[in-house]
Parts: sequence; structure tokens; C-alpha cells
Amino acid sequence: MTAVLVLNGPNLGRLGSRDPTVYGTGTFADLVGACTALGAELGLQADVRQTDSEAELLGWLHAAADAATPVVLNPAAWTHYSYAVRDAVEMVTAAGVPVIEVHLSNPGAREGFRHRDVVVGAVTGVVAGFGFDSYRLALRAMAGLVTAAAGPTGAGG
Ligand code: DQA
Repeated sequence: MTAVLVLNGPNLGRLGSRDPTVYGTGTFADLVGACTALGAELGLQADVRQTDSEAELLGWLHAAADAATPVVLNPAAWTHYSYAVRDAVEMVTAAGVPVIEVHLSNPGAREGFRHRDVVVGAVTGVVAGFGFDSYRLALRAMAGLVTAAAGPTGAGG
């Protein structure tokens, strides 16, 4: 199984009680369960984490760059203003390691301040607007990227 980090930024630990009309009724524990279950089906060992500390997220991203661990990342509000998160993400992707940005909601369809994404220029791809399915779609895409990186299987690559 390939290890994948599923990293979540501020306030996402409040899923379930935080504005369910936007983020749904599933809790963070439910999200962990959904990601680990689908990950196992896809051959990915999903390590799902959440932090309200930007320094902690930066440390996780540095470790991902050093260990070449693929990342699914919901930067939450940091998406919109954290150049530090953007630069740390770039260290991962510059090392040839995929980072897929996810959002439960579609920030582009919400308040103006959410339209600015300072992280997106450093990631491999983005999935937004599908609730927990944003993570499931990202994990499926990640499984494809990891398989492709492992090389041809003899059945057409
Ligand atoms: C979010 C969207 C952000 O604008 C917001 O600050 C979040 C969650 C999402 O998953 O939809 O905290 O990243």
C-alpha cells in the first residue's frame, strides 16, 4: 500500500456542526472513515490529519517533501492568503510528488474573498464542490498518478 497524507486546515475539525448547509452533516471522524475506506480499496494507506496550526501543517508538508509522500490537501481558509502554505506545497510538487487540492464547497461560487486561491498555482490538480466526494475523487486521481509513476504494468502502461 502506498502511503498518502490527507491534510486538512483550520476549522475542518468542526465538520458536522460547522455550517452544515455548506459543508454537510458528516463529521471529521466520518471524513477520516470515508478516506481510509476508499484508500484501502485503491491500495492507498490514507493518513488523515487536521490542524488549526499553520506551523503544524507546514511541518507535515516539509516531511511529505522529504519522504516523497503524495498529499491530498484541503488548506481551508489558508487557501486564500497563506503564501507560507503555498511555498511549502511547492516544495512537495517541485520534488515530483503530487499534491491534489480539495474543497468540500466550491469557493469560486461563494463570497468574493474565497475566489482568490494562492495555493492553486503550486498544486498538481484541484477538486472542489462535491463534499466528501471531493476527497474520494482526489484519492482516485491520486491512485492513478501513483500507479503511473510506478511505471508500465505490461498492459499498455
Ligand atoms: C473550504 C473552503 C474555504 O473557503 C473555507 O475557508 C474552508 C473550507 C472547503 O473545503 O470548502 O474552511 O476549504
